[in-house]
Amino acid sequence: MPALNESLEVYVKSVTHEAKGILAYELRSRNDEDLPPFTAGAHIDLRMEAAPVRSYSLLNSPSDRSRYVIAISLNEKGRGGSIHIHKNLHCGDSLIITGPRNNFPLAEDAKHSVLIAGGIGITPIWSMAQRLTEIDAHWELHYGARSRDCAALLEVMENHPYSRAIHTCYSEGEQAEFLDLKAIVARDDGHMHFYCCGPAVMLEAFKEATREVPAERVHFESFSAEHEASLEGGFVVELARSGKSIEVTPGQSILDALLGQGIEVMNSCREGICGACEVRVLEGTPDHRDSILSDSEKQAGKTMFVCCSGSQGNRLVLDL
Ligand code: FES
Repeated sequence: MPALNESLEVYVKSVTHEAKGILAYELRSRNDEDLPPFTAGAHIDLRMEAAPVRSYSLLNSPSDRSRYVIAISLNEKGRGGSIHIHKNLHCGDSLIITGPRNNFPLAEDAKHSVLIAGGIGITPIWSMAQRLTEIDAHWELHYGARSRDCAALLEVMENHPYSRAIHTCYSEGEQAEFLDLKAIVARDDGHMHFYCCGPAVMLEAFKEATREVPAERVHFESFSAEHEASLEGGFVVELARSGKSIEVTPGQSILDALLGQGIEVMNSCREGICGACEVRVLEGTPDHRDSILSDSEKQAGKTMFVCCSGSQGNRLVLDL
């Protein structure tokens, strides 16, 4: 069995129309062996020819090792990954994936977990709901979508034994309503853990609503870059293990500069979402631009994502 984060060839067992503009892909190993384990909230990266590498959350339960299930929403304004996949990935096709990797883990010992999803952000959240059900933990789910037609996984939610813990709302139509995140978070009893995955506007509202909740009980994941990459350059990166010094010039990311000098660094999304390019910082102050680290982790400055983050000073020493 391959180690975590190695490339793995899988094939598409089935493609299902999940909702308007959303297709679900069930991926299995060619020899029907179990796939590498994952935890709820994990994602894999799809590596298809002629398409940018993109990360997709696994929506099935971690206890189901026979398959990885992802759902991909068509994004006409994106980098073209979803359009390419919808058009070109069919039943029976092989493809290369990497992962699973998890930047959005569950605190499984929480007394009560409040899961909040917007649009295609339901995918990691639904894996969490299944996991929490399996370990007999208390949870509730709030899911907002544009309309019923656009909401993925509705059928499985409506037939779930805890369907009463699932609240859906739709922002279009005569009875349009939005999730009231402030009201949801206001019920915090000091022990709840809050999770959110959704579009940038929802994440902003979630961060605002949970401002008073201790960071260790607030968890979120973005599926689009929240910040512009740092391409200002004008600093030097010293590599502690090899002793090399590499200049990062204006217009380059640190990752570009490293790859340009033949230094191999794992990378995937190149926009600070997937977590593949994380590197330990030994000296210097990063200019963090990722959507993964919490504010306190950014302040600690012990690690950085070199695809998008830069340097606040003229020198960084990295554990490479
Ligand atoms: S390559 Fe994905 S976070 Fe850097």
